[in-house]
Amino acid sequence: MKRIFVAGNWKSNKTWEEAKSWIDEFKVQSSKFKATENLKIVLCSPFTLLFPLKELINVHKLPLELGAQDVSPFGEGTYTGAVNAKQVKEFADWVLIGHSERRKHFGETEDVLQKKAIQAKAVGLKIIYCIQAENTPIPDGVDVVAYEPVWAISTGDPYATKPETPENANRVAEKIKQSSSGNLQVIYGGSTTPENVANYTSQSHLDGVLPGGASLSGTTFFELISHAINI
Ligand code: PGA
Repeated sequence: MKRIFVAGNWKSNKTWEEAKSWIDEFKVQSSKFKATENLKIVLCSPFTLLFPLKELINVHKLPLELGAQDVSPFGEGTYTGAVNAKQVKEFADWVLIGHSERRKHFGETEDVLQKKAIQAKAVGLKIIYCIQAENTPIPDGVDVVAYEPVWAISTGDPYATKPETPENANRVAEKIKQSSSGNLQVIYGGSTTPENVANYTSQSHLDGVLPGGASLSGTTFFELISHAINI
């Protein structure tokens, strides 16, 4: 049985009040659910929410690991506004690097992304590295690769966009695995929903998904997870 990896990405959404409501919804759903070793759920939240979310996850013993959505390419020091890997590692186990929105809106280059990966690895953060095409370079030390073709990503409503076909996503995942060493997991991101997710997770080379819009409601996110593993 393969291990399914679901990483929700809240992007630039949610105040603390909204995050608490999300946790309440998720808690209700997850209490009906039997945890399994074959499922990993990661929630990538804004930096401001990592600390209080970690507390709530611990208090309620939720089957969730935390991830940041970014990390500084530098270490500690005179880099105003940057959050470094050591600071992230205090509250999160994972970090998303290379998301197309970071590349597009913040001008992040392969060189900067490589530096971020080095910083993350140095403190033991696990990396979900986003690539937009099968030939996008992948730095060393990445734990999970997320294939997220730019045109398939929703602007908030995953039902309003056309996702990549599961067959194409599977073909890309196979190529990535063939050209990597070890047990790299490959997931797909782009307009995934509770209704279409099993079409992806049932593909032989796809190990999970990276939902953005569909992770914004705790109930919908959990519904998506249930369908993802029901394959
Ligand atoms: P979406 O986001 O699920 O809202 O399309 C996916 C992504 O950003 O990779």
